[in-house]
Amino acid sequence: MMNGKKTVAVIVAAGKGERAGGDVPKQFRTVAGRSLIGHCVDRFRAHPGIDDVVVAIAEGQENALARAVGPAPLPRSVIGGASRRESVANALCALETDGDVGAVLIHDAARPFLPETVIDDLLAGLGAYEGAIPALPVVDTLARGYDTLGETVSREGLWRVQTPQAFRCDAILSAHRAWPADREATDDAQMLRAMGGSVAIVKGDTMLEKLTHPADFALAEARFGGPSMRI
Ligand code: CTP
Ligand code: MG
Repeated sequence: MMNGKKTVAVIVAAGKGERAGGDVPKQFRTVAGRSLIGHCVDRFRAHPGIDDVVVAIAEGQENALARAVGPAPLPRSVIGGASRRESVANALCALETDGDVGAVLIHDAARPFLPETVIDDLLAGLGAYEGAIPALPVVDTLARGYDTLGETVSREGLWRVQTPQAFRCDAILSAHRAWPADREATDDAQMLRAMGGSVAIVKGDTMLEKLTHPADFALAEARFGGPSMRI
């Protein structure tokens, strides 16, 4: 609860997972004994600062969601859109209609290993900012180049931005409404910033790496799937 209003987690799970390949979209695949969506739902529900969970899924995936989350209770779902941005927007519209949501944490289903401490830090960040995001500093050398090496780019002040991203609900709704319909956005914080919103950076976590390519699944299983490593 924030000022008497709910804090809701929005999990976007309406993508096709084309880069990951496989028979089913990656959010329904199992790693470390549970589907990616199931992990995300569990983690949010386990956090005392989160009052509710909403999942954006593609049309016709209601049964897949039920199988992926069960035997835990089925979370509320909304139908996503053609892009991540539209999937988020559809969920935000549903929350606006509810009228009792103060803050949202928008999260990729493709990042199943979500540490409690990151949620703590994000919620704390919302006390003073309109948004808060987890990010890790870039550690590799950065360079331009096509076939051969071009100039090296300073990595100072550059971040790898993750999710969940936390926002005051009214602020992120306005940012989505102000964003041009024909422009893509890879996350939500860039939209809030584009309209002058203040976004805090909190400490990200390597556990939050997004599962994007086939090899990421094998690596995640090796890292989190062992009996002693299960989180
Ligand atoms: N997503 C969504 N709606 C879309 C596209 C993406 O809800 N129309 C979600 C995905 O389900 C995922 C998150 O946004 O949890 C991050 O996107 P990404 O990793 O790109 O997943 P996909 O778009 O599914 O994968 P790909 O781009 O490889 O097809
Ligand atoms: Mg995508």
